[in-house]
Formats: sequence, C-alpha cells, structure tokens
Amino acid sequence: MMTSTWIPGRQTIRFGGDYNPEQWPREVWDEDIRLMREAGVNLVSIGIFSWALLEPEEGVYDFSVLDEIVELLHAARIDVDLATPTASPPAWFYRKYPHARAVTRDGIPLAFGSRGIVSPSSPEYRQAATAIAARLAKRYAEHPAVVLWHVHNEYGTPVTESYDDASVGAFRQWLQQRHSSLDALNAAWGTNFWGQRYGSWDEIDAPRTSGTASNPAHRLDFQRFSSAALLECFTAERDAIREHAPQPITTNFMAGMCPSVDLWKWADEVDIVANDHYLSAEQENNHIQLSRAADLTRSLARGKPWILMEHSTSAVNWQPRNIAKRPGEMRRNSLAHAARGADAVLFFQIRAGQRGAEKFHSALIPQAGEASRKWRESVALGADVAALAPVLGSRVDARVAIAWDWESFWAQDLDWRPSVDLDHRERIEAFYAALWHRGVTVDFVHPDADLSSYDAVFAPSLYLIEDDAAENLREYAAQGGTLAFSYFSGIVSTNDNVPAGPYPGQLRDLLGLVIEEFLPLRAGERVALSDGSRGRIWSDDIELRGATSVAAFADGPGAGRPAVTRNSFGKSSAWYLATAIDGPDLDAFVTGVLDDAGVAYSPIGDVETVVRRSEGVDYVFQINHGATDAGAGVSGLDLLSGTPVEADQPVPAGSVRVVAVRDEQG
Ligand code: GAL
Repeated sequence: MMTSTWIPGRQTIRFGGDYNPEQWPREVWDEDIRLMREAGVNLVSIGIFSWALLEPEEGVYDFSVLDEIVELLHAARIDVDLATPTASPPAWFYRKYPHARAVTRDGIPLAFGSRGIVSPSSPEYRQAATAIAARLAKRYAEHPAVVLWHVHNEYGTPVTESYDDASVGAFRQWLQQRHSSLDALNAAWGTNFWGQRYGSWDEIDAPRTSGTASNPAHRLDFQRFSSAALLECFTAERDAIREHAPQPITTNFMAGMCPSVDLWKWADEVDIVANDHYLSAEQENNHIQLSRAADLTRSLARGKPWILMEHSTSAVNWQPRNIAKRPGEMRRNSLAHAARGADAVLFFQIRAGQRGAEKFHSALIPQAGEASRKWRESVALGADVAALAPVLGSRVDARVAIAWDWESFWAQDLDWRPSVDLDHRERIEAFYAALWHRGVTVDFVHPDADLSSYDAVFAPSLYLIEDDAAENLREYAAQGGTLAFSYFSGIVSTNDNVPAGPYPGQLRDLLGLVIEEFLPLRAGERVALSDGSRGRIWSDDIELRGATSVAAFADGPGAGRPAVTRNSFGKSSAWYLATAIDGPDLDAFVTGVLDDAGVAYSPIGDVETVVRRSEGVDYVFQINHGATDAGAGVSGLDLLSGTPVEADQPVPAGSVRVVAVRDEQG
C-alpha cells in the first residue's frame, strides 16, 4: 500500500488550529508566532470570521491585514488554511438585504449580532459569498503559504432549515425535480390523509409550525432540500475558488454532532474530509464517543486520511458545565483521532480570546500563558504529533461496520412515533461501545453502500430503509455477510411510508419474521428474556417465518414471543433483537453475532487499540484511558518515546504508545 501526503512536500502530520489575530493588537501577533513555533505549529486556519474586515462595504475590499498575517506566517514557515468568511456576513449585508436572514419554523427572522443567521437559499447571499470567495482565491492562489481552502464554517449550524421566502421558492423547484408531477408528489406524501391534497405547486409551503403533527413526508423532503441547499452554497464557493486556485478545498464537518446535513452526499464534494469534534464533557467514557466520531469521519473519507480541523485543548464554553480536561486527557484525545486516520490535529483555537461569546473557551495558548500546565502540554503534544511523521498517509482497516443514514435519523425523529423513548443515536452509541470494548475497529456505512469488505454489519434502529438499500442488504447477506438489526428497523421506505403487509416491510424475508404489533414498554418498565437478559423501551409481537428464536420474552407484553432471532439467509444469517439491552447483555448479543460472522476480537479493557497500516509497517496505537498500567502484547519501536518496547511492557496509566511493528517481509 502506498502512503501519500495530503499537502505535497509536507512529510509530517499537521499541528495547529484556528488563528484569529484580527481580534488582537498587532504586537501580540509576534508573540503568537514565537509561541506557535515553540509548540511546533505548522498549519493554521485564518480568516474564518473576517468578512467585515475584508469587505467593509459592499464591493470594497481591503486585504491589507490579511496580507500581513499571511506574510508573517509564511516567514515563520507556518502553512495557511485560508478560509472564506461566509459563515458570518457583515452588518451592511443584512441592512441592505434584510430578507436574506434565516427565518425559524415559527416565523421569526433571526437578528444580526451572532453568527450563521443567513438563509442558504438567498440569491443575494450566494452572490456575495461567491464574490468574496473568488476575490480571495484570485489574490492568494499563488501564495506559497496557502496549502488549503476552508470554505465557510460548519455548514448546518446554527441554522439548517430556513423558512424565508427564497427558501420556499427553492423548495418548490427542488420538489418539482424530485417528484415528476404534482400527482406523484400527492401520492408520495399521502396527501389524501387529513385533506392535504395540493392542486398547484404554489400551494406548497415549507412545513411551518402547524396545529398538530405536520405531514411527515413533507417534513422529510424539507430536510433533504435544506441539506441540499447548504451543499449548493458549498459547491458554488468551491467552484468559484477552483477557477483561480489549485490547492485542495474543504469545509469542516461536524460528523456525529450536527444531525441536520447528510454528509454522505457532502463527502463526495470536498477534496479532503475535515471534521470538528468536541467531547460531551460530562459524559462518562466520552473517549468512546470521540472514537465513534473519528471512525465516522474516516468512513466519510472512504478510508483515506482526513483532517481533524477543530477540537479543544480543554473546556469549551457552550456546554451546561464546561468540564476541563485533566492532565494527559488532551494528549489521549488528540492521538485517538490520529489513531483513527487523522493526518492533521488542529484545535479551536490558537490563543484564548479576551472578548466575545467564546472567551471562556480553552486554547493552545491559554489565558494563563506560558507558565501553565496547559501550555507545557500543548508544547509536548506538538512534539508527539511531529514524532508521528511515519504514520502519515497510512490507513485503518475495519472488518465490521455500523449502518448510519441521516435520512433515517431525520425520519425517526419526526412526531408521533410509537414511543418517545425510541432513540437511534443512543442505540448506535450502545452497539458501538460494545464493539469498542472488544477492540473491534468499526466503519460506518450507508445501507446502500458496497458492503462486501465487511464480515458483519450492525444496524441499530435503522427505521427508514429505501428499496434499493433493502435489496443491497439482502444481497450482502446472500453473499455471506452477517447482519444484525435491532428493533424499529426497516419499518418505512423513502417517503416515511409503511410498505403493504406486516412490519418490517423492508426486512421481512431477510429476517425471516413478521411483527404483528409493536409492544412498546412503559416508562422505566423492564422485561426479562429467557437467556437472562433484561430489556427496556421496546418489545414486539413476533411471528417467525423461517427464523429461529434464540431467546424469548419471559415476561412483559410480549411474554412467550421471540426476542432474539437468527435467520439463515443465502450464505449467511440475519439477526434481530426486539428490545433495548445494555451492558453485559448487549456484549453477549454482539459477541454472538461476531462469532457467527467469524470475526476475531479480544477485549481491550481501558486500552484503546487501533492499527494504522502502511507498506511493510503496522502502527499500533495503544491509548490507556484507565488509572492503572495495562495492555501489552506489542513489541517494536514506540514512535512517541523513541524507545523500543517489549511485548510484556504494559502501557502506563493514562499514557499513549504508538508502536511501529514491521511485517515479517517488511
Ligand atoms: C465550533 C466552531 C468554532 C468555535 C468552536 C467552539 O463549532 O466551528 O468557530 O465556535 O465551535 O467550541
């Protein structure tokens, strides 16, 4: 396997973050540069929120400050990821184009004074955004410091859907392309229900707040449209840059955190995938949540290395309780992203701010300055990242996948589902954690993707499955792949419509069963299974049509009916789990499926273990999240300490090792 570098000529993993010198007096910039060099910073993102500075009046540009910053960075041999500032149009823009403001579902136009309040479908916004993007590209295309373009910032947050007039007009056009005729739309949306039939395209509005539950197919299409409208904003800027500039172009995703854009579609449009990730600081074992986001990002990148565009050195400022990272935690976090494929480890932000809404956010250069543990950790991390140079371009292999489909999530989250406790995200987290604890590296996949490289695919609560995806899953099992679904999967198709016949219409033959009725549980209710497991939230009244019952409900509304089933299908099997089980019960289910699929695994305790491979060498990342020394079995050179380790040497508590293991032939 050939390794590659994503910036031509740069042989190390990039280290740095968002840099906002425009928020500081000029004399601080020199100090910033000195400190960045001390910490080994070699890539910064600049200009993300600089529109008002770069274009103080419409069509009047002033690049003097940006020029100076770019030159300063270049002289210090720090590469530049140059942003288009289009996440935050200036005050003059909104005064001139008040209708370009995003409008909420309840009809409130958002006010200037924050960020990200523009309607993605506003023609004036699109015009202004591509104009400034083109200007920047023209000016800096040839600059040797500029190695990457950073379009906008985190599309989809804080505003995904806008209910302004331009959005409604664009939605109607989008619908006309999606549904060949008004009759087709009426059929797809089931508008004979509650007398919602449309007689003309102009009658269709965005699904604003209404009397009670809105038409779910209408809402789902609006979510699809809104994600597509944002993507058009990105591609318009990207194409405007591409006319002038040769460098790779990206935008920072929030994979796993922003539920409102379908990143499978976006990933094909960027030159390299970039992601922002923030821990849910209060959540126990939040390093597993981090691993999940990193695996999802690598999956979006189709296995290629990706950029960790933002994470935090310590506390953020926007969670209910902004818990600081303890000694060693930032290092473990950063290196866990690298373990799962990141070839750049960047932070929000370089220097902690003194003004504005984010002044309590941590940074590489903390408010406490150089005489602080945090600064010493920043410098040490810079050295660690530099020591990982050999890892650049290497890949992570996964034999197991979890199905992930934003459209299914959107649909399941609409109103009036059989239980308020249904939560696909919680189930995916639970399944992912069970696999993580067994040391199984996981990819995420869209259900209609090529699954042939996986031995097993888990689909926890995959509510909406399109017809093509259902066929793809059947074909996967027929050819020898093992599948495992949990409850409330395969219930509806494209337009949130239930296929004729018993549930789960999309999966009946694959699972070898039908569900006569959903039997959701009461709040706090627990049910027992014949294998000793305890279920919550859900049960089904299942009738077997070829599958075997592996465990049955011992009590509760489904008493006596199957709770865990296995169906032989083609060359493989498809499992179904009809309730929410946790802890050791879920571990047992997951290991049963892994064994059935012939997947080898070994429990890892607290020592996260991931392998990045390149030609002739395996780089074994071992990250000890626990309080005791643990995990061994690998011998080779530890890139971080520069010393050899033997197979019987455990990883010290809280520490990280990256052991280069040469192949026999290597
Ligand atoms: C990100 C955003 C940054 C900064 C950061 C704070 O979502 O892109 O600009 O706001 O959060 O954690």
